[in-house]
Amino acid sequence: MEVTSSPDQFNYAMEGARARVESVGFVPTMGDLHEGHALLIRTARDGCGFVAVSVFVNPLQFGSRADLDAYPRRLEKDRAMASALGADVLFAPGEAEMYPDGVPQVTVDPGPLGGRWEGASRPGHFRGVLTVVAKLFSLAGPCRAHFGEKDAQQLALVRRMVLDLNIPVEVVACPTVRAADGLAVSSRNGRLSSRERAAACVLFESLSTAAALVRRGVRRSDLLRAEMARRIGAEPLARLDYVAVVDDERWEEPSVIESPARALVAARFGETRLIDTLLLPWPGEGSMQNSGVASRSGR
Ligand code: PAJ
Repeated sequence: MEVTSSPDQFNYAMEGARARVESVGFVPTMGDLHEGHALLIRTARDGCGFVAVSVFVNPLQFGSRADLDAYPRRLEKDRAMASALGADVLFAPGEAEMYPDGVPQVTVDPGPLGGRWEGASRPGHFRGVLTVVAKLFSLAGPCRAHFGEKDAQQLALVRRMVLDLNIPVEVVACPTVRAADGLAVSSRNGRLSSRERAAACVLFESLSTAAALVRRGVRRSDLLRAEMARRIGAEPLARLDYVAVVDDERWEEPSVIESPARALVAARFGETRLIDTLLLPWPGEGSMQNSGVASRSGR
């Protein structure tokens, strides 16, 4: 596996790969790779003749310097894991390589969806995400870029950006990898105390409750939101940030679900803020099984 911190060299590696193989895969990450990232890399490996992984802790998408500084950086471990998973190139630039002139003056406006839910809780976050993803896509060139459904709003915004700006990238969505108790695997889980870790499974429980209610015929979003909030409210260590039910296409909030919908939840456990999401069962769409605990590998 080639490892480079140079944007030009990454671009060159991708150009070369495109000349040799039919489909070039790309997995953008912020490092501290775990089983969730591994699923993305494996999916890229299965579907593409060449696989690039990027590791860049993007300062633009963090709300505070303290949060940015606290983000785990484990490049040696990431290099070993990406290589073991069969990646062909690891692009790990430093801040000065990605932003040689400092904070960019031109950035990507994430539009109305960028200001809701995660965007409302983390002002500027999605502008930072889309700006770095646009830069990474420019360097990568035409490819199949893999993103996790766990960060469903990010995935929806990346899809929107690719469509609205005619970026020649195919976005591939990968399912959420969960621990045995349902907690979505995340770099942030390592910051939880053991009591917080045990409490955090309430996120998936609340999503599963919403899924069970939909399966029983409940279609009113207010009832689903109330039940999710009640479940999280019953956990003393959880502080609810938001619960929402959106339609999975347009990300609007229906008062009554009439098409495939997605439940969203965000809550704090001590200092650690976690998010999760679940596509709610919808008859005839093959998503009726979507509400069980996924296997560790997500497959
Ligand atoms: P990061 O948090 O490192 O996540 C990289 C990718 O892994 C994202 O697409 C995310 O949705 C996916 N992922 C994380 N946990 C997952 C899980 N449990 N199951 C499946 N996929 C999972 O998301 C980012 O980095 C950044 O915002 C980035 C897109 C790289 C831009 O800086």
